[in-house]
Amino acid sequence: MLRTVKNILLTFAHRLGYIVIQKSAFAKKITESDVNIIKQEWLDEVVVVSDRKFVLQKLPKAGCVAEVGVGYGPFSREILRALEPQKFIAIDLFNGTAKDRWGKPLAESGLTHLAYYKAQLVDYLHEAELICKEGNSWEQLALFEDSYFDYVYVDADHAYSSVK
Ligand SMILES: C[S@@+](CC[C@H](N)C(=O)[O-])C[C@H]1O[C@@H](n2cnc3c(N)ncnc32)[C@H](O)[C@@H]1O
Repeated sequence: MLRTVKNILLTFAHRLGYIVIQKSAFAKKITESDVNIIKQEWLDEVVVVSDRKFVLQKLPKAGCVAEVGVGYGPFSREILRALEPQKFIAIDLFNGTAKDRWGKPLAESGLTHLAYYKAQLVDYLHEAELICKEGNSWEQLALFEDSYFDYVYVDADHAYSSVK
């Protein structure tokens, strides 16, 4: 019942031009300047795929790849397998603990987040050099010069303020 009411309210809000930024909080009405945050020329060569794994099929192999927000490694393994980079930079807070919502693997392994992550990649590295950078994404990325990476996959804190 509550869900139905919520859905009706959400539909109504969308029709009035509101966006929902959290489960139940309504954001301000979208204005012209909000829309103009994204410049049209940035979208001219955008390719839309139905699943992130298809992006990997479209990228050239080798090179230097970074993943920002690696978690416990499942997509790092996908990237390593598909792109065979020479250098793979893994950026994360690496502060996960066994008590976290997603901490079951740590509880079972008894490893730290960083140690567990490294262990997950051992069989996928082949010739790739793995560099793990522990800390806030924007601070760690700032340590690299412009054009250092061939590709960067961003999947850390999803708030706009964290990735702008
Ligand atoms: C959704 S998980 C990443 C999952 C991974 N990309 C995958 O698909 O397998 C998000 C990760 O981002 C990390 N993270 C969150 N905020 C961060 C920040 N400000 N800087 C660096 N890493 C961050 C978390 O520690 C967490 O491991």
